[in-house]
Amino acid sequence: MASVALFVVLLLTVAAAVDGKEKETHIKVYWHDVVSGASPTAVPVARAATTKASKSFFGAVYVIDDALTEGPGLGSSALLGRAQGTYVSAGKDALALLMNMNFVFTAGRYNGSSVAIMGRNEVATAVREMAVVGGTGVFRWARGYAQARTHTFDLKTRDATVEYNVFIRHQ
Ligand SMILES: *[C@@H]1O[C@H](CO)[C@@H](O)[C@H](O)[C@H]1NC(C)=O
Repeated sequence: MASVALFVVLLLTVAAAVDGKEKETHIKVYWHDVVSGASPTAVPVARAATTKASKSFFGAVYVIDDALTEGPGLGSSALLGRAQGTYVSAGKDALALLMNMNFVFTAGRYNGSSVAIMGRNEVATAVREMAVVGGTGVFRWARGYAQARTHTFDLKTRDATVEYNVFIRHQ
């Protein structure tokens, strides 16, 4: 009998912790992938022997520390944080990246918090959806999704600006 009561109490405690207090946050940032110039923020660190001959760059690995800004202008818009992590060209036939990155906020209301994003990014597609798999700070217990839309892609430099809309449920 006592164990049943304890079980009910535990159940109520868990329900109370999960219920009601969860917030939903929408963040829009611009992600700047700079591969050109003297100070790139996305650098190739590895590739397969066959990557150069592959149309989809299959096997290439990049490390990124890309700026996240409020508006689309890299020099002109407020810096909100950095996207730090890697992307891997993981599609053998189509250009599809595996994104694995933390959005680390360094200004604004989320300063000091981070969101972990992991997902497939088929870059030629208009809208790409990736999973939010966790977070820290105000984004503890985070889950959700991110949608990426290419804002600009410079064919000459191969630098890209991508709009990210991140929808997060968290504590
Ligand atoms: C962000 O937080 C850090 C640590 O608390 C602080 O030093 C810094 O001034 C903050 N930056 C902005 C732009 O608010």
